[in-house]
Amino acid sequence: MRLLIATQNQNKVREIREILEGSTKNSGLELVGLDEIVEARGAPIEEPVEDGLSFEENARIKARYYAKATGLVAIAEDSGLEVDALDGAPGIHSARYAGVGESREERDRANNQKLLRELEGAAEAERAARFVCALSVVSSTGEVLYETRGEFEGRIGTEPRGDGGFGYDPLLFIPELGKTSAELTSEEKNARSHRGAAFRALAKVLPSLLATLSQAAGDTKLEGER
Ligand code: IMP
Repeated sequence: MRLLIATQNQNKVREIREILEGSTKNSGLELVGLDEIVEARGAPIEEPVEDGLSFEENARIKARYYAKATGLVAIAEDSGLEVDALDGAPGIHSARYAGVGESREERDRANNQKLLRELEGAAEAERAARFVCALSVVSSTGEVLYETRGEFEGRIGTEPRGDGGFGYDPLLFIPELGKTSAELTSEEKNARSHRGAAFRALAKVLPSLLATLSQAAGDTKLEGER
């Protein structure tokens, strides 16, 4: 069975593949990226309008949209950064917080600069923050099969540190490790991250989810034969 990783963000695709690698090996499951579908079709798939009011709503919007567009079971996630001193901002607006930049890298840099400006003078205790990842799995017929959320706690540093990861990774400082998320290896980040937590929770229920889907496919086939 093919499962679609429904995101155009290649950093997320890489992390999701790393996290799910162990649980999908020899399972009969094939993880497919949107880029592979687009390449096979020879035509791009437009991005959906993410007009939900929460990470959960946006994850579901994306999973529904890409399941319908591809006819596959789609796993989508919506993620971002919540900063306590900013009442949870940038939140669902994390990707385009500063509102500038053509490329993902330019937008990330501008977002980080804006966040540091907004927090200028903020005391250590006010810099508490977390990455959040809401995950949604939707069947090819639009049925929500599974949803969960993961979080990754830290605090916002006073300058970017590290070259790993993407987005706000250079600014999320993990006090117990004395490092930012961008200074962790991918294994270290995945073991603690919001995305790691959400996708490991999915990995646990994947076998039963797949059994339900195969059963449904079998039932549909039988009905068709009647
Ligand atoms: P989305 O693609 O609309 O879900 O946007 C998520 C945005 O949140 C990204 O562009 C990043 O700015 C930020 N973000 C989400 N996950 C991470 C992460 O693991 N590290 C750093 N930034 C992240």
